[in-house]
Amino acid sequence: MVGEGRDPGRGVRTNGPFSFLQGQQVRLFLLLQLLLAQLLRPASRALGAPVSDVCATCHVHATCQQRDGKEICICNYGFVGNGRTQCHDKDECQFGATVVCGNKASCHNTLGGFYCICLEGYRATNNNRTFIPNDGTFCTDLDECEVPDTCGPGGQCVNTPGSYECYCKDGYLPPNGTQPFYPMRGGTSCTEIDCGTPPEIPNGYVIGKYTSRLGDQVHYACKEGFYSDQEESGTSCTVGGTWETPKIHCQEIECGSPPAIQHAILVGNCSSNVGSVVYYTCIDGFESTGGNLSSLCTAEGTWKKNTFHCTEKKAFITNVSVFNNTCVKWRVSPEREDLKMVYLIHIQGQQRDGIEFVHEDLLNLTTSSQEPEVCLHLHQGTNYTVAIRITFPRLSVPVNVRIQTDDDDGSFDVSVFNETCLKWERSPRDSAEEQMYQFQVLGQRWYQSNFYHEVSFNFTTRERFPEVCLDLYPRTYYTVNITTEAFSKYSAHIIIATTRSVNQIISNISVLNETCLRWKRNAKMADLEEMYLFHIWGQRGYQKEFNQKVSFNLTTDSQAPEVCLELYPGTNYTVNVMAASSGLPVLVSLMTQITEPPIPDIEFIAVQGGPLPPLSLWKAEDKNGPISSYQVLVLPLALQSKFPCDSIQDTTFFSNDSSTKGYVAAEILAKDIPDAREISLGDRLYYGKFYNAPLKPRNDYCIILRINSEWNQVRRQSCVVWAEVKDSSLALPQMMGVGLASVAAVVILVLLSFLVA
Ligand SMILES: *[C@@H]1O[C@H](CO)[C@@H](O)[C@H](O)[C@H]1NC(C)=O
Ligand SMILES: *[C@@H]1O[C@H](CO)[C@@H](O)[C@H](O)[C@H]1NC(C)=O
Ligand SMILES: *[C@@H]1O[C@H](CO)[C@@H](O)[C@H](O)[C@H]1NC(C)=O
Ligand SMILES: *[C@@H]1O[C@H](CO)[C@@H](O)[C@H](O)[C@H]1NC(C)=O
Ligand SMILES: *[C@@H]1O[C@H](CO)[C@@H](O)[C@H](O)[C@H]1NC(C)=O
Ligand SMILES: *[C@@H]1O[C@H](CO)[C@@H](O)[C@H](O)[C@H]1NC(C)=O
Ligand SMILES: *[C@@H]1O[C@H](CO)[C@@H](O)[C@H](O)[C@H]1NC(C)=O
Repeated sequence: MVGEGRDPGRGVRTNGPFSFLQGQQVRLFLLLQLLLAQLLRPASRALGAPVSDVCATCHVHATCQQRDGKEICICNYGFVGNGRTQCHDKDECQFGATVVCGNKASCHNTLGGFYCICLEGYRATNNNRTFIPNDGTFCTDLDECEVPDTCGPGGQCVNTPGSYECYCKDGYLPPNGTQPFYPMRGGTSCTEIDCGTPPEIPNGYVIGKYTSRLGDQVHYACKEGFYSDQEESGTSCTVGGTWETPKIHCQEIECGSPPAIQHAILVGNCSSNVGSVVYYTCIDGFESTGGNLSSLCTAEGTWKKNTFHCTEKKAFITNVSVFNNTCVKWRVSPEREDLKMVYLIHIQGQQRDGIEFVHEDLLNLTTSSQEPEVCLHLHQGTNYTVAIRITFPRLSVPVNVRIQTDDDDGSFDVSVFNETCLKWERSPRDSAEEQMYQFQVLGQRWYQSNFYHEVSFNFTTRERFPEVCLDLYPRTYYTVNITTEAFSKYSAHIIIATTRSVNQIISNISVLNETCLRWKRNAKMADLEEMYLFHIWGQRGYQKEFNQKVSFNLTTDSQAPEVCLELYPGTNYTVNVMAASSGLPVLVSLMTQITEPPIPDIEFIAVQGGPLPPLSLWKAEDKNGPISSYQVLVLPLALQSKFPCDSIQDTTFFSNDSSTKGYVAAEILAKDIPDAREISLGDRLYYGKFYNAPLKPRNDYCIILRINSEWNQVRRQSCVVWAEVKDSSLALPQMMGVGLASVAAVVILVLLSFLVA
């Protein structure tokens, strides 16, 4: 290529600085020049002209020519120079290839000449590779497209000036996807469109053959059990080399819920897709009468009609047998689980010797058991025919069984219920009449050898199923004999071991007179001795160290026992009482009131006409209740004998009647006395709210110590005469303390014994 720009897109070319027309004119002018030069050229040596010496000097590229009779050396065509020493090549191409050779050509200089070669994509009009433009040859566009398969298979050639372009035919795709393409520039050839395997659709498939080339169509169909709403069921291979997205959408065919069949249920997991099979089974008590037990979901989306029916089973009784002499059992066939059936049992008894019916009975039995059994109340020594039939849900034929009862052995069966109750059945033969039963009841205890509970009584009844409840002691082993005397001699022997009764033997327990307990025995119990176990526990809130525990037993046959306990005053008690035969304890709380506090150890002092020495006080013990305070009372001596201890509680020296009734001179709280202390009467001090005034002279006084105890809203006090003062003096009381005589307080602890009522 020689400096040609080319717009590959348009196939239009431009040639250097010249326009096409300008170049043509210049070229023509030059050609004329060349032609003239050719014409004016002298005849060549080949014409056989005479050769002179001049001629011998001609340049190798010169020719000797005759001019005007003279021989001259003239440079050959294509050479310039003086002809002898100089003939150098003339470069015809120096004016440019376009000027010399025309458009789209390259110019090639040769020694003494030149030639032109068309640029690639062009050819010389003389069809030779090289040409010299003087014969009118020029370069014209080469039609590459004339060459077959220029663009390769599937390609289409389009000629353009100086070149060609390739496009792909329908059904082919350009290399790299771009068009046009240029095989000569390394572009490969068109590839045939191949859409490949058509897209798969869920639950569908391709019908028939296809080639996967452009425009080719494939058709789809849905798999069995699937359907599509779309009419259009195909796809085409597109220019892009891909298949169109198929519009078909295969949906599963559903048959919906399987048809219900009366008296049948579906078994297994049922799916409703095409080809699904559902199975039925008849419900209990029903059976199939032939026909399919299944239904199929068809491709139409419906369940196949079935001829299945469930009809009620006919039940019948089989395997009737007798056991335990009077009990009958049988089987029901076919088995009908969970179906309640009603049986009618007809009993007819005939005495062995006679022909007369002596016992006839009808009874119903409702059960869902597959193997029902029933025990019949039959007379002894009788031949029975027992007819059993089903009456519900459908009547069945009766099935008979014969029973021969044993001969009468004179005993009858008694059953125990509710621990102490007895029941039995009287013979239907005798049931019209009253019957007396003699009861002998004997109870004993392994843990109480002296316990002996014996009862005898007569019981008369008309009942068919008599019941008797006995009053029995708990935890006792009883034998009960029942005999009949009058009509026919029957007897029964029963053993009853009673358990710890939940019935409390102690009832209505109450406290009376503060320390006494009273309760009732369970009314059912006979007049027998019962042993009661007592556990007593006493505590005092004000005296932590006090802790009294006592246990004892009491045996009594009283129906309303009473017991008085000897208890400490001012104490809280818990009493646990338990009857030995029941083992159930009863708890009672009781509280004793305080009593008068004990008198502390004091020294009586009698003074006449002199001063009263200090009085010494030792603390008293909290024996009968907590001691709260001590008071010193001053009374006119005359009142001493008839003084009530609980009087003048609040009378102070300043009370308007203190001189006549007496007064409280001092009050000291028990907690303020460590062990002992002294009090000097008349020291003019206040003790509590009371003023300790000096005694009036020349009077006779009685000094009393009052001890106060208070607990649980009860107040008790004790009084003791402490001193007698006759003809009292005015002298000041001696303030100095007198050494206290160490008088030991005598503590008397009374141990209480218990009095049993
Ligand atoms: C082509 O070249 C050949 C040999 O060079 C010559 O004989 C012939 O005349 C030329 N053809 C034309 C059309 O110029
Ligand atoms: C058993 O005795 C209790 C209490 O006396 C009574 O409530 C219950 O009904 C009795 N049970 C039977 C089966 O008689
Ligand atoms: C009951 O009868 C048996 C024998 O028949 C006899 O040994 C027993 O002592 C009787 N019991 C009573 C409580 O009468
Ligand atoms: C029961 O009846 C019989 C016969 O009448 C008599 O002998 C017996 O004393 C009666 N027993 C009692 C406990 O009443
Ligand atoms: C209880 O006290 C009352 C009267 O105070 C008396 O009659 C009765 O006997 C006392 N009871 C007991 C069990 O001490
Ligand atoms: C004693 O009984 C009284 C009255 O029920 C109660 O307030 C007090 O806490 C009891 N004390 C003790 C130590 O149980
Ligand atoms: C003592 O005083 C009280 C009231 O303070 C009065 O009711 C009473 O009558 C007086 N007694 C005498 C004897 O003055």
